[in-house]
Amino acid sequence: MSAAPGSIGLTFRQDYFGDPAAWAALVALLHDTFGIDVSIQDRFGGPDPTSMPFAYFDANGTCVANFSAFSMPMMIDGRLVAAAGFQSGAVRPEWRGRGLYRDLMRRAFAWCDAQSFELGLLLTDKPALYELYGFKNVPQYQFSGTPPPTAKFRDSSRTLSLENSAAAALIKRLLHERTPVSSIFAVAAQAEMFLLNSCFDPGILLSYLDQPESVVAWKREADCFRLLDIVGKAIPPLSVILAALDQRPSPIEVCLPPDRLDWQGTPEPFPSHTSLMARGDAADRLRQPVMLSPMAEF
Ligand SMILES: CC(C)(COP(=O)(O)OP(=O)(O)OC[C@H]1O[C@@H](n2cnc3c(N)ncnc32)[C@H](O)[C@@H]1OP(=O)(O)O)[C@@H](O)C(=O)NCCC(=O)NCCS
Repeated sequence: MSAAPGSIGLTFRQDYFGDPAAWAALVALLHDTFGIDVSIQDRFGGPDPTSMPFAYFDANGTCVANFSAFSMPMMIDGRLVAAAGFQSGAVRPEWRGRGLYRDLMRRAFAWCDAQSFELGLLLTDKPALYELYGFKNVPQYQFSGTPPPTAKFRDSSRTLSLENSAAAALIKRLLHERTPVSSIFAVAAQAEMFLLNSCFDPGILLSYLDQPESVVAWKREADCFRLLDIVGKAIPPLSVILAALDQRPSPIEVCLPPDRLDWQGTPEPFPSHTSLMARGDAADRLRQPVMLSPMAEF
């Protein structure tokens, strides 16, 4: 850093989400930087309790810089991997270019190494920032194809709204009980981002299926059916999902590896303005086309 943060009136804080004023100050930083309101999470029980935020605050309690780690266990090639996600990286414009972010990244990565996480994951539109710390780009692929022969259409699903507290509780329960949607590459346990992403994009439909009990996150754009995630103890085949949703689309885009869907699609590069980056041995062993469900984006 060009000058010690203490000498320029800043205080370093870590693990500060227990302080409502400090949490509100981070909400303001992320709103001012990215135009998003992460305080929506307060409706669902607050931020991920595994979060470990690292930040600088000024004398007025304004959060001027932050970078957070959180635990996001992943299923990768049939093995449960202790992974950490990194998010909420931002520095207020008047504080940029002084090494604050470098300092916070180093603290966060050192903390994760000390916790023995096997894998670090992040999404960014500035990959160069993280290459110095061992992160490599993981190309993402969506899976496209024609629909499977369907089971009998039965329109047996119902749409859930997170505005409804009973529906929100049902979705939260299933998120905590879930089987990873893919054995190749999927989140094994993490509820908060699914809920937040659902709130951020009103185009996402959440449909409840009773057999097997699950919530399907999906979108319909013109003729295209886009499958985003499935949350449940068991993963229904794609044919059962389409029948339950009464959808007869062409084509289909599946935004996750479809190994548990009894359907095969053709992997195609996923168009996105952000790159998925990973570091750790588990990242080096990725051999098959992968995609992080858009519902897990962070
Ligand atoms: C990106 C951002 C966090 C950098 O914060 P900062 O405090 O100015 O960064 P630092 O001064 O600590 O610089 C750290 C390193 O990042 C590099 N860097 C800074 N901005 C960068 C950018 N936009 N793209 C690539 N590298 C960048 C610096 O050159 C420096 O490299 P070095 O360690 O090799 O010297 C800040 O500009 C910001 O909040 N931008 C808007 C939000 C954003 O993009 N967040 C990151 C989301 S992944």
